[in-house]
Amino acid sequence: MQKLIIKGKKDLSGKISISGSKNATLPILAASILANNVKIKNVPLVKDILTMIELLNFIGLKTKLSKKKNIIEISNLDKNINTLAPYKLVKTMRAGVLVLGSLLAKYGKAKVSLPGGCAIGTRPVDLHLFALKKLGAKIKIKNGYIIAEAKNGLKGAKIKFPSISVGATENALIAAFKAKGKTILKNCAIEPEIKDLISFLKKLGAKINFNGRTIIIKESKVKNSKIIHKVIFDRIELGTYMIAGALLAKKKLFIDKIDPKLVKSEIDVLKKIGVKLIIKKTSIIVKKGGGLKRINIITKPYPHFPTDLQAQLMVLLTQAKGESKIKENIFENRFMHVPELKRMGARIEIKNKTAFIKGPTKLTGAEVMATDLRASVSLVLAGLIAENKTIINRIYHLDRGYEFLERKLKNCKAEIKRI
Ligand code: UD1
Repeated sequence: MQKLIIKGKKDLSGKISISGSKNATLPILAASILANNVKIKNVPLVKDILTMIELLNFIGLKTKLSKKKNIIEISNLDKNINTLAPYKLVKTMRAGVLVLGSLLAKYGKAKVSLPGGCAIGTRPVDLHLFALKKLGAKIKIKNGYIIAEAKNGLKGAKIKFPSISVGATENALIAAFKAKGKTILKNCAIEPEIKDLISFLKKLGAKINFNGRTIIIKESKVKNSKIIHKVIFDRIELGTYMIAGALLAKKKLFIDKIDPKLVKSEIDVLKKIGVKLIIKKTSIIVKKGGGLKRINIITKPYPHFPTDLQAQLMVLLTQAKGESKIKENIFENRFMHVPELKRMGARIEIKNKTAFIKGPTKLTGAEVMATDLRASVSLVLAGLIAENKTIINRIYHLDRGYEFLERKLKNCKAEIKRI
């Protein structure tokens, strides 16, 4: 099994270009089932994306991935279609459940494996099914599979989500594309990745409007012409490298291919902590700082501070003066990095959903275990600031979501290698 070895305390300098967003690409790939012919640019080459492509191939779509150009071309010739998403492909990547909406919309039926639990919490799909049922799908669960049917097509409906879910909003949006009449979705997630999905669906021919957390979709027809779409940048990757810069920039770390307007809450939080940032139109410069201050944070749906950056922020707060608090409000079990960070010397206590972090604390290298995607990258950040050597086990989690992580960090003078 591969491991990462990091020799800490090396200052970072240079440039990091941010990749395309994994979480925007996944629903767009799922929605491509609706289309005839699409070309998607800025696709990050990470494991979750490769798994989704494998799923599309399994369903019967033709895909051509250019790894050099980060471009995928997908065509659906409507031949030999399998309306099935098997367990082996959905178990490693929950987003596989997003093909449910597009298979139902296009073929009136789908059999999709229940994704099951995952390390950060139970992560049910009840909200996905709630929305699809409101659109007229008949759904039953059998042998670990969601079996859904809409023989006469889906019908537009008014749907108010009882709580905000990114995946359920995406599934409902895709499913509603061809639903008869009009669909009104209320209390939707409004993450930039959802706006990117909306812009893709509009290119595909969807009549969609949104206002705040309400999205209105009118029955639409798929355009025959080839659709070209460039995926937005990965805001979580940007946040991760901004934190790396805040911890270790020699003089400055230059991060580009981004849009700072989409990371306002992250910029705001980092500035409050005392991180020096210069914000440009498509780039951010993180300057060498010092004197980091404590802060209290609660993770919440966009536009608030993201749960996907919670673990990384915690590492930064081990270096801030005083006691900081982070309340994890989205997932019930997302503090698994804490015992590992404590093994490196961090002073963190957890009470209920809140982590109390005392700083500043010197971290020391240790052998640690990655447990999920974002927890893993927080251990990389900790290793970069720790004295001596840190060995991170189970790094396949990292490969699910960070494109060229070692290469990007090495280019900025970090000492990191994979064995
Ligand atoms: C997406 C992101 C993930 C991010 C999360 C929250 C992708 C591929 N993944 O995950 O990186 O951490 O948003 O920003 O985009 N819930 C239910 N029932 C459901 C669905 C969700 O109770 O049917 C709960 C979840 O357990 C969780 C909360 O709702 O507590 C939010 O989850 P959701 O927004 O759905 O996350 P994902 O779409 O799975």
